[in-house]
Amino acid sequence: MTIEKTFSIIKPNAVKKNAIGDIIHHFEQNGLHIAALKLTTISKEKCELFYAEHKERPFFGELVSFMTSGPVVLLCLSGENAVLKNRELMGATDPKKAAPGSIRAKHGDSMGENAVHGSDSLASATRELAIFFDKHEFVNV
Ligand code: RTP
Ligand code: MG
Repeated sequence: MTIEKTFSIIKPNAVKKNAIGDIIHHFEQNGLHIAALKLTTISKEKCELFYAEHKERPFFGELVSFMTSGPVVLLCLSGENAVLKNRELMGATDPKKAAPGSIRAKHGDSMGENAVHGSDSLASATRELAIFFDKHEFVNV
């Protein structure tokens, strides 16, 4: 059994439509536990650091502007194979292609406003969690 920690963001469009509870419920119903949680607004500087891998992409400016446009929920999810499980629960990046029943199929509005972020590997999860959480903010679950 491999217990992992992964990083999730409930993006501004999902917070705005009152879907925080539904998304967290979806994680919990599928065996992921909340190990850290914050309702906050991300600064432009942190957002650019977080999405550094996409810096040269044409949508980078739009992505940072959207992600800093309103409150988000930052989460550490813990559980068996949490990284992959979270990616499966989210569904594909484009909500139109996301599997029925997935979070993005239900709450995504477009490729940009796709409701949630999830780390794509254990290495990304460690890097991303360190950007947004201090060590003392995690609980053991
Ligand atoms: P995320 O990082 O947010 O969990 O999403 P992802 O791995 O499924 O997708 P990624 O390729 O890492 O892209 C990061 C975010 O950038 C926006 N995006 N827009 N307009 C576009 O062509 C485009 N492509 C990507 C999406 O919001 C995506 O979640
Ligand atoms: Mg990604």
